[in-house]
This record gives sequence, C-alpha cells and structure tokens, in this order.
Amino acid sequence: HTQLRGDQVIVVSNREPYIHEHGPDGIVVKRPASGLVTAVEPVMRACSGTWIAHGSGSADRDVVDRADRVGVPPGHQDYQLRRIWLTPEEEQGYYYGFANEGMWPLCHVAHVRPVFRESDWEAYKQVNQRFADAVVAEARSEDPVVLVQDYHFALLPAMIRAKLPQATILTFWHIPWPNPESFGICPWRREILQGMLGSTILGFHTRFHCKNFMETVDRYLEARIEDEHSTISFQDKETLVESYPISIEWPDEAVAAAWPPIAECRRRVSERLQLPAVVRLAVGIDRFDYTKGIIERLNAVERMLEKAPEWIGRFVFVQVAAPTRAALDEYRSFQERVERITERINSRFSRPGYQPIHLLAQHHEPEAVNELFRAADICVVTSLHDGMNLVCKEFVAARDDQQGVLVLSRFAGAAREMTEALIVNPYHVEETADALLRAALMPAAEQRERMASLRSTVREFNVFRWAGRMLSDAGRWRLRARVEARV
Ligand code: F6P
Repeated sequence: HTQLRGDQVIVVSNREPYIHEHGPDGIVVKRPASGLVTAVEPVMRACSGTWIAHGSGSADRDVVDRADRVGVPPGHQDYQLRRIWLTPEEEQGYYYGFANEGMWPLCHVAHVRPVFRESDWEAYKQVNQRFADAVVAEARSEDPVVLVQDYHFALLPAMIRAKLPQATILTFWHIPWPNPESFGICPWRREILQGMLGSTILGFHTRFHCKNFMETVDRYLEARIEDEHSTISFQDKETLVESYPISIEWPDEAVAAAWPPIAECRRRVSERLQLPAVVRLAVGIDRFDYTKGIIERLNAVERMLEKAPEWIGRFVFVQVAAPTRAALDEYRSFQERVERITERINSRFSRPGYQPIHLLAQHHEPEAVNELFRAADICVVTSLHDGMNLVCKEFVAARDDQQGVLVLSRFAGAAREMTEALIVNPYHVEETADALLRAALMPAAEQRERMASLRSTVREFNVFRWAGRMLSDAGRWRLRARVEARV
C-alpha cells in the first residue's frame, strides 16, 4: 500500500481493539473475541491513523478517554483510538436490535428469524450518523482513506460521501451476504443498499458473496451492473465489488519462539482440566453464538462415542465459548440449550475420572487460546454459516510442530482456501462424527503433510495480503480520480 503513503487512514468498527474494564485491583485491559479485531488491529499498527469504535468497557469514560492515565496495551500506541460512547437506548436499538437481531440472522441464514423493529432502525440510522460525524471531524483533508467495517455500518459510506465527496471509502463486510430473496425480507433493503453504495470499494470474503450482493442490487435498485469489471454504477457513482479473503497476522519467529513448548501446553491444559493421561484432545473455540454450530458438534461427539465406544475414556472435547450479546434472548436460550446437551452427553459417557465434554463458557485471552491450540490433537470448526472464520487460521498458525488435525465446516469462507482440512457438513451428524474418528486416528505423517500445506497457505495469504490488496486497489482508484479531475 505504498501508493497511499502520506494519506490519512481512518478505520471505523463497532468493536474496539481493546477494552478497559473495572477489575478488583483497578482498571484492566481486555482484548475482545472478534475476528474483525484480530484482522484489522495488526493492519492499523502498520498504517497508524485513527480507529473510531464504540466504547464498550465498564471503566469510567472520562478516565478511559484520557488514555495516558489508564495505559494503552503494548504495540497499540501506533494509532489513535477514538471511542464513541452510546446511550443505553442507542446501544439497545443499534447494536442489540438492528445489527444483531436484524442484520446478523438476515445475513447468516442460520434458521433464526430476523427481527425488524422500527425503533431499532431509527437508532441504527442515528448511530451511523454519529459515526459519520466523527469521521468528518477527524478528517484532516478532503480525501481521507476511510475503512468502514461490517454490518453495523451499512449506512455510513453514503453518509460520509455526502460530507466528504472526495474520500476513498473502503467498506468490508465481515459476514456473509445472502441471496436476493433472503435479503429482500428486510423492510429497509433499499436504504441499506444505497448506503453501502456510497463506498468506493466494497469488499466481501468470497466471490460468492460479491455475486449475491450484485444480484441483490440488481433486484432492488435502478443501478448498472458490470459483471466483467465487477462494478456497480448508481446515481453517477461507481463502486468496485471485490472479494478479499481476510486472514490473520502470521506470527514471526520471535513471537513463536516465546510460546511455551507443545508438551508444556499439553501438560498445563491436562492438569487444569484433570484429563486422563492418555487421551485425544479436541478443542472448539468460539463466541457463544448460534451460527457457530456448537450443538451440531456436540451431537457429533456423542455419535462418535456411540459408534466407536473404544474412545470412551480416551477422547475429550473442550469447548471454549466466550459469552457474547448475552442481553439477547436468542443468545441466552442458545447457551442454556448447549449447557443442557453437554450435561446429557456427559451423564451418558462419564466414568470415574473422565468426562467427555468440558464446556468453558468464559472469555479467554489470546495467550490462553494459543495454549489450547498447542495442546490439542484436533480443532473443530463447524459453523453453520460464517463469512470466513479466523479460528481455523489461528489454530494452524499455532502449530509450528506441524501436528494437529483441523475439522472444518464447508459453510465457513475459510473452507475454500483450507482444503487440506477434513471438510464436513455440520448439519450431517454422521459425517462429522466420522471426520472426528478419522482425525483421532490420523497418523502423524499425514497430519504433518496436511498441516504443512495449510500453514504455507495461511502464511502467504496473511492479513497484510488482505489489507494490501484492498489498499492498492484503493490507490489505483485514487490515482484515476485525480487524473479524471484534471481532464
Ligand atoms: O466478524 C463478525 C463480528 O460480528 C464482528 O463484527 C464482531 O466484532 C465480532 O464478530 C464479535 O461480535 P461482537 O463484537 O458483537 O462481540
């Protein structure tokens, strides 16, 4: 992205890269469970600039805003964080309501019915306007580069464009885009599409999502679609619709050298969870979200133990589920169902000193997640629908011993790149159970072969490739706009 050297970069996302919370010994800094933050944060460290996000921690606002008093985590000093503090009503309507009860199920098509309330939509519009005003206030020139992140901000691109017509606005949609019929149930479908088309570049994880988006625009707006160049012209403005598969920062040698050895990770996890000595350990690490296929994977573990009872006592599945959006009924009842199913399976297969499933419904900091990845024999990602999913890429990055098997849902964007995983349809319990069995029995040589190949893919197609491609496309468009302005 050398073409953008000297240009101002502003990023907007709902989730902030670090959260200040009140702890028993004063204010503590936590890093949220968010694929978006995992990906965007290293890019911002490299670009500097300003990150505008919704302030979500419990620490006092005026204290947090004076970051010098509470401290910025190491490595994060390279960019500015500007927090937007929302009122409880705004947070309810914009974040819990329209974004997470409306847009989230609408785009994931995970059989949870989207809820559209007029009052949520009003709050969503209002909060988008507040973020647009913050971008305008931060802009030091007429043409900053603004990176808008995700479904919380569908209206932001057009709002920014209205005030800063020369801005280069790159919008990245971190979740899937459904087909026109599914999207069409949204009462404000036209407003959302028009808002997004304020972008210079609109990015999705896969070509398939781009195609769905272009077909949706074709169905509901009077716009010119050019399939060949993947552009949409709407009200005299052109938007490039392109796929940019997101990824992670590949850990460099110094980072990996500081990790505890694999055997040590395994020892610590076994001790903490009191696992039997000889055991195959599978892990799942997710937010506690109904799109992640957690129930389907528990059913698969149960089926595996039914089919191959010799694994009872020798196969343990650890599910980390970080609480998320717990103010919503749908999320609370999902968590209760998962807990009930876990208890049922455990009561069926537990033996003295052995329980097949450990459900850890707590937030884990990145170091603890890395320890689990390194301790595991198998990592299970069974999303029912997922834009990309970065857990599988983090697992692969953690395994510098070239061991471990990845079981991956075909409905995660990552399945298109990570073909050496054992790919499953999570709706098919039998198939997923068979994949778990195969993973448990996979010889070390085959694991090495698959893992080496997965690692070379993720190392090469890392998050800087994701951002670099988007920013160099932006650089080309800026150059073109400057040339056209001269003519
Ligand atoms: O990438 C999808 C996403 O919804 C992000 O927008 C978000 O930060 C992350 O997952 C976690 O969700 P939340 O921010 O609502 O806790």
